[in-house]
Amino acid sequence: MTFPSNFMWGGATAANQFEGGYNEGGRGLSIADMQTNGAVDKPRVITLEDDPNLYYPNRQASDFYHRYKEDIALMKEMGFKTFRMSISWSRIFPTGEEATPNEEGLKFYDDVFDELKKAGIEPLVTLSHYENPFYLTKKYNGWADRRLIDLFVKFAEVCFRRYKDKVTYWLTFNEINAGMYPFGQYNGLGIFNPGSTDTWNLKDIPSLRFQGLHHQFLASALAVKLGHEINPNFKIGCMVALTANYAYSANPDDQIANQLSWQYCNYYCGDVHVRGEYPAFAKRIWKENGVELDIKEGDLQILKEGTVDFFAFSYYMSSCISTDETLKKTAGNLFGGVKNPYLKANDWGWQIDPKGLRFTLNELYGRYNIPLMIVENGLGAYDDLVDGQVHDEYRIEYLREHVRAMKDAIEDGVDLMGYTPWGCIDLVSAGSGEMKKRYGFVYVDFDDLGQGSGDRFRKDSFFWYQKVIATNGEEI
Ligand code: BG6
Repeated sequence: MTFPSNFMWGGATAANQFEGGYNEGGRGLSIADMQTNGAVDKPRVITLEDDPNLYYPNRQASDFYHRYKEDIALMKEMGFKTFRMSISWSRIFPTGEEATPNEEGLKFYDDVFDELKKAGIEPLVTLSHYENPFYLTKKYNGWADRRLIDLFVKFAEVCFRRYKDKVTYWLTFNEINAGMYPFGQYNGLGIFNPGSTDTWNLKDIPSLRFQGLHHQFLASALAVKLGHEINPNFKIGCMVALTANYAYSANPDDQIANQLSWQYCNYYCGDVHVRGEYPAFAKRIWKENGVELDIKEGDLQILKEGTVDFFAFSYYMSSCISTDETLKKTAGNLFGGVKNPYLKANDWGWQIDPKGLRFTLNELYGRYNIPLMIVENGLGAYDDLVDGQVHDEYRIEYLREHVRAMKDAIEDGVDLMGYTPWGCIDLVSAGSGEMKKRYGFVYVDFDDLGQGSGDRFRKDSFFWYQKVIATNGEEI
């Protein structure tokens, strides 16, 4: 058998895209609640006030808040060993600043963890998945302000203490490297442009982004250290949106451009989390971006003391890097690139590349030499629900090839802990805010405007994945 017997097969979600119940149980608004719907060609917008003429899809999301028992039963039926979910910070601290946490919010996650335990499913919990309390963005401009560190650590401590006997696996920040890009300013870091009065606009302020990231690194390291003190059995990981790039050609300029892209996109954040220090190339990146980082005394020691136990990442696609500006571009998860003539893409332009996953796993394990986990992967696609069925052969094909690539990588010697495909039960797309960009094994009957019964239907991929798990990856 290639996969270890304790391999963590499962699925992944995030509260902001899945949970809903945005104004129930004493929950406060999060930044994701202020994000409008978009489309493949229409960017989402964050409004600073509620606009009744606009639709905010993350508020209802997939309504896990009311349907968690049904959803966990479906996961159990598929044979999940683990379920990746996130805790909504504003459900625990509605503004982020309360002296005491919201008991009703804490109780909700107690109920979810208890239900998972009954189903024999191990939770894997992300503390921050693109949803700062909105109040903190308004008051402090999100992670631009150093005071967010203590507020986050307080939130993390409450979660660690409350759930110390129910949760063992944690991730601090989802796709922390989103902060390396202009749009990551709001969804990762909750940082607005000073002077914005109505909607967030895409004016990039690199110095705020890099400073915000520095604050998140510190918050993550402090949380890791504290988590290990609260329960030495905790396994706490980082989470990076893996940007798998190839050099477009053998031209040395392309090769160097690609190497620099791996440094910028993946290793800047990965190195801080895993090695506990900024890499040597960080200085060049700061210089190129006109950034003078404010590093206070003691900061570098904190980073050293809070390194992660495992490296988790999302992997959807790959693209190419070239110095030739005339080449055709392709869209991507955080970051697009040049079109690869050898690959096909999904309807949102993300290029499908299972072999890139093997490449990536080897690359990451070679650099970090700690256990890896793929906590997001999958095909966003349009699905047709006909007579309660969805024949999603295209999704099975995508996943099958990625599982094959994982097998190859394990045989290459990579220590891979688990696999949680994204949006295992359909949820709202982060990029476009659509419901019709679906990833799940389970269809959720909501449309892009949240209309529908919300009922759940097993897709063909549900039965396929059930068999994969039952045979521990032998039958794909
Ligand atoms: C990752 C995020 O970027 O990719 C998820 O962690 C997101 O939140 C996922 O949903 C897929 O992206 P999208 O835009 O298809 O939802």
